[in-house]
Amino acid sequence: MKRTLLLLAAIPLLCLGVVVGAQEKPAGADLIQRLGCMGCHSHKGKGGGRGPAWDGLGGRLRPEAIKQQLIAPRGRMPNYKHLRPEELEALVTYLSALP
Ligand code: HEC
Repeated sequence: MKRTLLLLAAIPLLCLGVVVGAQEKPAGADLIQRLGCMGCHSHKGKGGGRGPAWDGLGGRLRPEAIKQQLIAPRGRMPNYKHLRPEELEALVTYLSALP
């Protein structure tokens, strides 16, 4: 009986673990949405015009250069060095694959 109860209690905990685990992996596209990058940048004609358009970015900038722009930006762009390393990584991965 006790065992059954324990098992029953474990199920929601397991589900919670899956949900939290899924949230811990930041997706580049979500981060870009949340951080408001598109207020200044555009891609495929959508977004702002204060920063350069991101079209073809993956072919133009190497991942290290993109990361550098995030943690030590040139020009009038906010610094994103406060982001967690895995968030930076997700952004760089996403941006360096942009067509
Ligand atoms: C306030 C406006 C602004 C915001 C918000 C902003 N940027 Fe920028 N970004 C710029 C400007 C301006 C430049 C050009 C800097 C220069 O070279 O003078 C730039 C350059 C870049 C570049 C290099 C582009 C190229 O073609 O050389 C990347 C990559 C980039 N930003 C990524 C991001 C990401 C990712 C975010 C969100 C986390 C972001 N930016 C948010 C203004 C902004």
